[in-house]
Amino acid sequence: MYTGCKINIVANAIDRHLVSDTRNKLALIWEGEPGDMRTFSFFALNREVSKFGNVLKALGAKKGDVITIYMPQIPELIIAMLACAKIGAAHSVIYGGFSVEALAERISDAKSNILVTADGGFRRGKPTDLKNIANEAMRRSATILSCVVVKRTGEECFMESDRDFWYHDLMSMPIASAKCETEVMDAEDTLFILYTSGTTGKPKGLVHTHGGYTVYTSTTFRYVFDYQPEDRWWCAADPGWITGHSYIVYAPMINGATTILYEGAPNYPYPNRWWQMIEKYGINILYTSPTAIRGLMRFGSSWAERHDLSSLRLLGSVGEPINPEAWKWYYEVIGQKRCPIMDTWWQTETGGFMITPLPITPLKPGSATKPFFGNEIDVVDESGKSVKSGEEGNLVIKNPWPGMARTIMGDPEQYIDKYWKQYKKQGWYLAGDSAKIDEAGYVWIIGRIDDVLKVSGYRLGSAEIESALVSHPAVTEAAAIGLPDKLKGNIIHATVILAQGISGSPELENELKSHVNNEIGPIAKPAFIVFADSLPKTRSGKIMRRIIKAKVLGEDVGDLTTLED
Ligand code: WTA
Repeated sequence: MYTGCKINIVANAIDRHLVSDTRNKLALIWEGEPGDMRTFSFFALNREVSKFGNVLKALGAKKGDVITIYMPQIPELIIAMLACAKIGAAHSVIYGGFSVEALAERISDAKSNILVTADGGFRRGKPTDLKNIANEAMRRSATILSCVVVKRTGEECFMESDRDFWYHDLMSMPIASAKCETEVMDAEDTLFILYTSGTTGKPKGLVHTHGGYTVYTSTTFRYVFDYQPEDRWWCAADPGWITGHSYIVYAPMINGATTILYEGAPNYPYPNRWWQMIEKYGINILYTSPTAIRGLMRFGSSWAERHDLSSLRLLGSVGEPINPEAWKWYYEVIGQKRCPIMDTWWQTETGGFMITPLPITPLKPGSATKPFFGNEIDVVDESGKSVKSGEEGNLVIKNPWPGMARTIMGDPEQYIDKYWKQYKKQGWYLAGDSAKIDEAGYVWIIGRIDDVLKVSGYRLGSAEIESALVSHPAVTEAAAIGLPDKLKGNIIHATVILAQGISGSPELENELKSHVNNEIGPIAKPAFIVFADSLPKTRSGKIMRRIIKAKVLGEDVGDLTTLED
């Protein structure tokens, strides 16, 4: 804790660069999927952020408010985040791939009065329809008083008078002055909340602060990726998730780095899009996920081989364990055996890298290697005893660190319950992952121990998918599990119980899939739906997803003594 200290992350990410040579350096290079491009120096970024900060204030935003941002991957997303931070409001960025209910629920939970969105973005050559999703979400959760809309696609969308305003109109008004003071914040004040999936149906809004998060993200970035001032850095994640918050926006900007943002799909129009970007901008460091690597690997090596990737110096991986095949391809074809791969283990809750190599660490493909400076990590049994090397157990962090989430917004008890209760006596943080440590002290992450799934590297809760299914009138109960998938890591399998008098059919199966798609988003759409008469439950009524999974995979169902039926 940095109680009593004064700071604003924007003073570090922008303001201090304005009085140095960094002022005219590119802070952001952005490329849209159709091939349009925009760049911002730190100077220009400051102007846009200041102007938008004043717009938000004119709309009534105050220090301490939560402003919801639901955007495609365009520069205004980053401008809006920084503008919130600058005026002392917290941002809550909702991933642009989420749909109506996911957005509505998060707006209500945060009691947001202002929503910043866009008419849409481009994905695989088609405009997405964000504003119409936002309209429906605003109808379901009535807290939004003003909605700012960036015109990106130019597609028709409904604008409600007195509530919805075009970004470009507001930014050209006198209210959008380019002079805006950076609010002095207490180091422990909220910088943002970010919703993430847990074991309950309701996503939890984790709280990160101005002080600790500044220190931790910028330090981990600098050392793990050996950042040099001339580097061009590309974290190919979505800013709507923690990886984007920490390592597209804040950490690079605090370090005065040039960060890259790309709007669209990696394989559009062809599977060489990313490699083309690396060649075009001379990118030095690429940080992405195993699922993206596997997705590009399946098109073969020739797409990468036709581009000059010699600017690359380091590679990074995040989001799930990287399988040896993908590691080898990434290392040999993309890094040309020259670039070490920094496999970084961390979580929304940790703010920044926790277990990671440094460029000088000898690597073992598939292992995130060792704890970052200052972290003491262990793998323990239920009672807290370290397991023998090579044995599986619970991953714990034994020390506090600057970037840790401080609480769950509106639910401090759940925060304590989920992360701190099991090893309360010892004061350790329970990560929710199982892992092994080998004889050389290298950590091998196995996967989640709770009902959290990683679909294409995106984090989803079984319970969220189940509540989306149950919100359909034909469904009374549902159980969602993750099945292993070569490409996506996990795919979703749902077992549903239908309401009396309704019988399952292929049509209903498709209808339920698209219902989940409309409520949460395409990433949550089940690959399989099966209809059943009952679900295996414990005597206390908890669905035993473990048993369904074992049955579906044809594995031994194990201990059934706690089963009710
Ligand atoms: C998993 C993403 C293996 C893990 C930054 C963790 C990983 C969850 C790795 C957090 C890695 C993340 N190797 N597994 N390098 N990085 N994970 O909150 O299960 O979206 O608990 O944060 O992703 O996911 P989240």
